[in-house]
Amino acid sequence: MKYERKDLLGIEELSAEEINFILDTAVSFREILERPIKKVPTLRGKTIVNLFFEPSTRTRMSFELAAKRLNADVLNFSTSSSSILKGETLLDTARNILAMKVDCFVIRHSAPGTPHIIAKNLSIPVINAGDGAHEHPTQALLDLYTIRERKGRIKGLRIAIVGDISRSRVARSNIWGLSKLQAEVRLCAPPTLIPPRIEETGTQVFFSLEKAIKNVDIIMMLRIQKERDKGSLVPSNAEYREFFSLTEEKIKVAKDDVLIMHPGPVNRGIELPTALADGQRSIILDQVTNGVAIRMAILYLLLGGK
Ligand code: CP
Repeated sequence: MKYERKDLLGIEELSAEEINFILDTAVSFREILERPIKKVPTLRGKTIVNLFFEPSTRTRMSFELAAKRLNADVLNFSTSSSSILKGETLLDTARNILAMKVDCFVIRHSAPGTPHIIAKNLSIPVINAGDGAHEHPTQALLDLYTIRERKGRIKGLRIAIVGDISRSRVARSNIWGLSKLQAEVRLCAPPTLIPPRIEETGTQVFFSLEKAIKNVDIIMMLRIQKERDKGSLVPSNAEYREFFSLTEEKIKVAKDDVLIMHPGPVNRGIELPTALADGQRSIILDQVTNGVAIRMAILYLLLGGK
């Protein structure tokens, strides 16, 4: 099979076959990361532009590293030092950068649909690195890869996603991806952090953490997105912690070999105590490592690397 799309904008539009193809492609790139010299000439002569309009540590650095591992050149765009501050539109900015003969845009923006507008108007591949609360497709792909790597499969696994579901692009992309690959998805949060009609995606909603994580294979914890708070949706950190923070005691109802995931950044002591974030069951840093391999695979597939 081939990845026939120009862009990677979301998991919603991908088939299970396309998702599995991307995960399979990432396996050989993951192996490169274990070599003493972690660089291949696959995208020599190509230029990737990181257009990030929201803060990022993992995604931006992971895309930059993935591009460099493939021998591509990377341009990092910073809003605070750009002509956007003088009134230039985002589309004009992208068109001007494209006129410098670049080959791919990686875009993060707080407004849902921004990468889609750029993709529709420009001829080169566009990758969505997170658009508001809509989608974060490469995060979901790296999560799926990590689950498959650790559990050997995705089909039939029971996975609880716990936290700020309503404002989480990670949750949305993972719900699409996990459901397409036939996992059982449970969502858990206070009612104010559950989007309306989410059950229509085939997921089960729980307001009790203990019930949500009973007999699960994976617990994916999410942080409260304070930066998107317009009026508080939880009474206080202390109350949220009491009912929705994972603890050594609460996790006993999950399967013995349960694994803990988190897309980062972790708010230690709120959704996860340090003992669990850094403990034996945590695969949080595996997710970060695998993110580089997934992004190498995506760049390779979109840019027709050799
Ligand atoms: N997981 C994730 O998107 O992290 P960053 O915001 O640091 O990129």
